[in-house]
Amino acid sequence: MLHEKRSPFPNNFLWGAASAAYQVEGAWDEDGKGVSIWDTFVRIPGKTFKGTNGNVAVDHYHRYKEDVAFMAEMGLKAYRFSVAWTRIFPNGKGEVNQKGLDFYNNLINELIKHKIEPICTIYHWDLPQALQDEYGGWESREIIEDFKNYSVTLFKAFGDRVKYWVSLNEQNIFTRLGYQTALHPPGVKDDRLFYQVNHHANLANAVAIKEFRKYVPDGKIGPSFAYSPAYPATSKPEDILAYENAEELTNHWWLDVYVHGKYPKATWDYLERKGIAPKVEEGDFAILREGKPDFLGVNYYQTTTYEKNPLDGVTMDGHFNNTGKKGTAEDIGVPGLFKTVANENLERTNWDWNIDPQGLRIGLRRLTNRYGLPILISENGLGEYDKVEEDGTINDDYRIDYIRTHLQAVQDAITDGVEMIGYCVWSFTDLLSWLNGFQKRYGFVYVNQHEEGEHDLRRMKKKSFYWYKDIIENNGSNL
Ligand code: BG6
Repeated sequence: MLHEKRSPFPNNFLWGAASAAYQVEGAWDEDGKGVSIWDTFVRIPGKTFKGTNGNVAVDHYHRYKEDVAFMAEMGLKAYRFSVAWTRIFPNGKGEVNQKGLDFYNNLINELIKHKIEPICTIYHWDLPQALQDEYGGWESREIIEDFKNYSVTLFKAFGDRVKYWVSLNEQNIFTRLGYQTALHPPGVKDDRLFYQVNHHANLANAVAIKEFRKYVPDGKIGPSFAYSPAYPATSKPEDILAYENAEELTNHWWLDVYVHGKYPKATWDYLERKGIAPKVEEGDFAILREGKPDFLGVNYYQTTTYEKNPLDGVTMDGHFNNTGKKGTAEDIGVPGLFKTVANENLERTNWDWNIDPQGLRIGLRRLTNRYGLPILISENGLGEYDKVEEDGTINDDYRIDYIRTHLQAVQDAITDGVEMIGYCVWSFTDLLSWLNGFQKRYGFVYVNQHEEGEHDLRRMKKKSFYWYKDIIENNGSNL
């Protein structure tokens, strides 16, 4: 529907920005921190763009006060960060490393001092290597207990001040890229294991949420899901079916479990026929049902368009664009179910990600209709090349356009009746993009860090910094 006038953003809307430990902190082996699977993976030649790693990242561990000062200057209302499990438990379990707790306590206190709501992500992919070595990490049900203990430690330590929590960041991505495409650690390609690992992650997520109720009864918790709403390529019934298959296999497969504690039927039966459905133990579904979140965290970057894929069609192996050379990404799919296809109606970034603000509104409405939970956009933003001009300015008008149009879509969704908690831009400062190095930049604050050579890591405000400041000041009424 076309609105004559959009409803205003709620007064307590969380105007935020986000980051993740591995991508910003650096200090990879300081103050007792243990080794994570990412610390290990990035050292394997050819895995990341130009061999980049998070040893230093953007040095947030040492510069967090400076970074929070920028947030305060901007008037940011919320900052989403993640905790590195290996700072709290260097080996994933056992003795707590007090210095790790100290770091996050200091960060949280600094945020609160500046009236910035902390949003704490428990797990953003940096699993302790010790747990991977001991029992295969997410491959074993042992992870459930260790994740529970780690989560409870955080709830007890920070729950008095942190009221918004994200349990798992993008479970659909870390399981798929870790176990189906091998682009992320542990670099495995095994469909059966992928679904099994994912089942364990579902259980861990639900158990942590259940524990949360005991320790932070006045808090809110939810997973952050990498949500790419599906479109059909044409109105041909076979393409509509492909889109329905994709919607179920790439979205509902996770979201139905989070909210309703069950897997969607057609996909379950399909996986059973293939012999790759997860092994479920008695009582698992009861556990899943007890872990219903308070909200859905949505990481939205783009929609995906699908068409029919024959039985001998493309697989998930298509080339992934991590170089920023437009047009190098290849289509992927599941034979017999669906394949991706370029949507010629949409512009794409240099990394071949579609730009589709309207898709965000469409997705938010779909989620509201199917799940009825409030929504926090826990990530949305534009990864692009940025140029520092001779006078030191960074004129990222393309990022302003991206964020403005997506915020307008959020406002449209609010007008449609979607309950929105807030919106976190990915990211506050520039940071390390897991596979794409430092040249794919997302921040409001430029960081002088690059793939090669030593750099001074100085921070510089981009044009978008001032723009977002103004939007926050006006609670979005000037979009
Ligand atoms: C999300 C992740 O998938 O997208 C972030 O939660 C990530 O950690 C972001 O950085 C952008 O992806 P990329 O590949 O461009 O860094």
